[in-house]
Amino acid sequence: MINMILAADEQGGIGFKNGLPWPKIKEDLSWFKQLTEDNVVVMGSTTWKSLGVHAPLKHRHNYVISSTHSKDDFPGCFAVRNPKIDSIEVILKALDFAYPEKDVFIIGGKTLYDEAIQYCDALFLTCIHDQYQSDTIIDVDSYKKNFVLLNQMYSQGNQHIPDITFETYLREEQSGQQDFDWDDDIPF
Ligand SMILES: NC(=O)c1ccc[n+]([C@@H]2O[C@H](COP(=O)([O-])OP(=O)(O)OC[C@H]3O[C@@H](n4cnc5c(N)ncnc54)[C@H](OP(=O)(O)O)[C@@H]3O)[C@@H](O)[C@H]2O)c1
Repeated sequence: MINMILAADEQGGIGFKNGLPWPKIKEDLSWFKQLTEDNVVVMGSTTWKSLGVHAPLKHRHNYVISSTHSKDDFPGCFAVRNPKIDSIEVILKALDFAYPEKDVFIIGGKTLYDEAIQYCDALFLTCIHDQYQSDTIIDVDSYKKNFVLLNQMYSQGNQHIPDITFETYLREEQSGQQDFDWDDDIPF
C-alpha cells in the first residue's frame, strides 16, 4: 500500500524554518514511529535535511526524492530517486511493487505531498488543534477529497502541547474492500 502520513495545524501549517511549527508532541512521534517502523519511507530532499541527526530514520528503508543530489549527499539513505527520470507515480508504484510485505509511507514535505496524494491508498493525518507560525502550508481539505474517514482518536494536550486527533482515511474506491484488515494496521 502507498500511504501518506502528515501532521497539520488548523491552518494547514506543516513546517516552519525546515522544522515542525509546534513543540515536540510525544504522542504524535510515537504514532509516526509505530506506523512507519519496518516499512519504507519516502521523503523530499528538504525533509531529509530537516531530520538532522535523526537521518536516516532507523529501522526503515529511507528513500529520498531529488533531481539535484546523489546518494552521497544523503548518508545512510537506501536510495535516491530522481523525479526527472521517473515520475513520482512510477517511483511510488515501483516501491510498492518491490516491497510486497511492507507499506510505503510518504513522509513529506509539501512538494512531495502535493504530488503524491493522488497515488495514495491511505492517509494518516494528525490534526493539531491550534495555530502556529508556519512557512509551509498545505490544503488539507483538497488532500482529503476522495478519501473516507475510517477512524479517529483524540488525545488531550496540556499547557505545553496542543490537543490532537489522529485521523485515518482510506481512498473511497478501496474503503469497501473486504480483505482490508485495519485492525492489523492501526496501533489503537
Ligand atoms: N508536518 C509534517 O507532517 C511534516 C512532514 C515532513 C516535512 N514537514 C515540513 O515540510 C517542510 C519541507 O517541505 P518542502 O516542500 O519544502 O520540501 P520537501 O518536499 O521535503 O523536499 C522538496 C525537494 O524534494 C525534491 N522533490 C520532492 N518532491 C518532488 C516532486 N514532486 N518533483 C520534483 N522534486 C521533488 C526536490 O529536491 P531537489 O531540489 O533536490 O531536486 C525538492 O526541492 C519542512 O518545514 C518540514 O519540516 C512537515
